[in-house]
Amino acid sequence: MTPHLEAIVNARLVGADGLYTLRMASGRFSAIESQVGELNASAEQLDARGNLVSAPFVEPHIHLDAALTAGEPHWNRSGTLFEGIECWAERKALLSREDVIGRAEQTLKLFAAHGIQYVRTHVDVTDPQLTALQAMVEVRERVRDFVDLQIVAFPQEGILSFPKGPELMSRALELGADVIGGIPHFEFTRDYGVESVKLLMDLAQAHDCLVDVHCDEIDDPQSRFLEVLAAEALSRDYGSRVTASHTCAMHSYDQAYCSRLFRLLQKAGLRFVALPTENLHLQGRFDGYPKRRGITRVPELLDAGLKVCFGQDSIRDPWYPMGNGNLLRTLDVGLHACHMLGIERIESALELVTDNGAAALNLSDYGIAVGRPARCMVLHGHNPYQVLLNQSPVLASVRDGRCLVQRQISQPAVAGWE
Ligand code: FE2
Repeated sequence: MTPHLEAIVNARLVGADGLYTLRMASGRFSAIESQVGELNASAEQLDARGNLVSAPFVEPHIHLDAALTAGEPHWNRSGTLFEGIECWAERKALLSREDVIGRAEQTLKLFAAHGIQYVRTHVDVTDPQLTALQAMVEVRERVRDFVDLQIVAFPQEGILSFPKGPELMSRALELGADVIGGIPHFEFTRDYGVESVKLLMDLAQAHDCLVDVHCDEIDDPQSRFLEVLAAEALSRDYGSRVTASHTCAMHSYDQAYCSRLFRLLQKAGLRFVALPTENLHLQGRFDGYPKRRGITRVPELLDAGLKVCFGQDSIRDPWYPMGNGNLLRTLDVGLHACHMLGIERIESALELVTDNGAAALNLSDYGIAVGRPARCMVLHGHNPYQVLLNQSPVLASVRDGRCLVQRQISQPAVAGWE
């Protein structure tokens, strides 16, 4: 463990002018002071050198049980979601506790090196042994000094379309899952899909847990389980604890339906996770040209006052062979794909991988404020625009007053070019 820092000096903060000193005591922020000019950092202080200091990145949606298995036992050659699920069904049969723990920890270490300190992972519970789920409960404890991990009981092959699906969901919650998931668009029938949403909401209320549903991850404009989830959340007054992930079909809904849907979404107050890299890769697979992007309506949801965040979904698994753990890459792709490169969108872009992710995870103690845990990161750039242009890994990551990561970024010289 590195020693406790006394302060971070020469920090810029999102939306504020000038330089700041962030003081820390007992692992929490104890003061945030405006500076008059630059300060020389002492040995107990971290010098942000005028770069932006932000609350840590939040990864709201990753499948750690499948991470780093791309090509095992064979590659997803079509690149479709459904071949991915078939590949995974074969790989899942080979899972062991050690296998899951090893790959999950390797991935989380990669995330921590990129300033991510909060992670929500979906873990497939359509497995009678619940091998991955039990291993992930162990991982959550093993990594707690570095990352806060939430575990979603995720029924990859359906709740009502898989033998003993409902029992497996209950068992997963009893074994320690924090969040209940679902996949209504993948159930055998529309009726199963609707029933699965009601069932998972009943379970969530009975166990007083959060909800995060893979919802309408398909280009079918008739896939309308989001309205079912939102109506259930509204009638139970549960909206701030419910996250809808993917909602790709919204990309294909017509405007008349969307205008009715948005009224319900605003009343329900759900959280949304968009997965731009993954869904650009997986969606539009049944289209000729033009091909749909298949990403949910991010700017429209934001403008409606709803919380939307971006996640990676996969790191080198049967669905997506790429990924490096750097959420700035995901953010960059998402901003391009969603037509969000207007300057106001750029200036507020970091909320998509920080504050809005914290809202999706229902975090109560997140952010840079006196009294909160001293968790933050130093980004390469004086403002969000520069950070996005630089695309650098984080310069530092601080957790509970200790430095987890520190790196130097130097400008490469071009030999002979003065
Ligand atoms: Fe997912």
